[in-house]
Amino acid sequence: MTFYTKSAQQTEDIGRMLAERLEKSGTRRAFIAMRGEMGVGKTAFTRGFASHFGISGVKSPTYTIVNEHRGRVNLYHFDMYRISDGDDLYSIGYDDYTQADGYCIAEWSENIEDEIPDGAIYVTISRVDGNADERRIDIDENSCI
Ligand SMILES: Nc1ncnc2c1ncn2[C@@H]1O[C@H](COP(=O)(O)OP(=O)(O)O)[C@@H](O)[C@H]1O
Ligand SMILES: [Mg+2]
Repeated sequence: MTFYTKSAQQTEDIGRMLAERLEKSGTRRAFIAMRGEMGVGKTAFTRGFASHFGISGVKSPTYTIVNEHRGRVNLYHFDMYRISDGDDLYSIGYDDYTQADGYCIAEWSENIEDEIPDGAIYVTISRVDGNADERRIDIDENSCI
C-alpha cells in the first residue's frame, strides 16, 4: 500500500490507521520496521500509531534506544540510529522485547536489517521531490492487514 501525505498530521493519521487495522485483524503482536532518513516523519508515524491505543508522549528514543509505553497494549518504540552491531542491541534486551506481548516499532531499522524478526511489517517513508512537506509512505504487502 502506498500513501502520500502533506503534513505531519496526515502522516500520524496513516500510523493510526495501521494500528487500527492491526487491532481489528486480531494481531496482538507485531514488529514494525520503519525506514527513512532523518526528519522524514518516522516519529510522527509512531505518534499516530500510539495514539490509537491511547498512548501519548511519543518522542524519539535517540539516547535510550527504547521507550516503553503502556496503554491498552504495550508499545516498545526503538530508535536504532546509534546501533551499530548486535551487541548494542542485545544489551538493551532486544530479544525480550520482540517476544513480549504488544507491538515493537523501530525507527532506523536499516541499521538492524539482520535482526528484524520474520513477519515484520515494513514501513518506508520518503520525501517527494519538489515539495518540502510531502511524503510517500509504503507499507509492505506481505503484512497480514
Ligand atoms: N508529510 C509529513 N509527514 C511527516 N512529517 C512532516 C511532513 N511534512 C513536514 N513534516 C515535518 O517533518 C518532521 C518530521 O519529524 P520526525 O517525525 O521527528 O522525523 P523522523 O523521526 O523521521 O526523524 C517534523 O518537523 C514534521 O513537522
Ligand atoms: Mg525520529
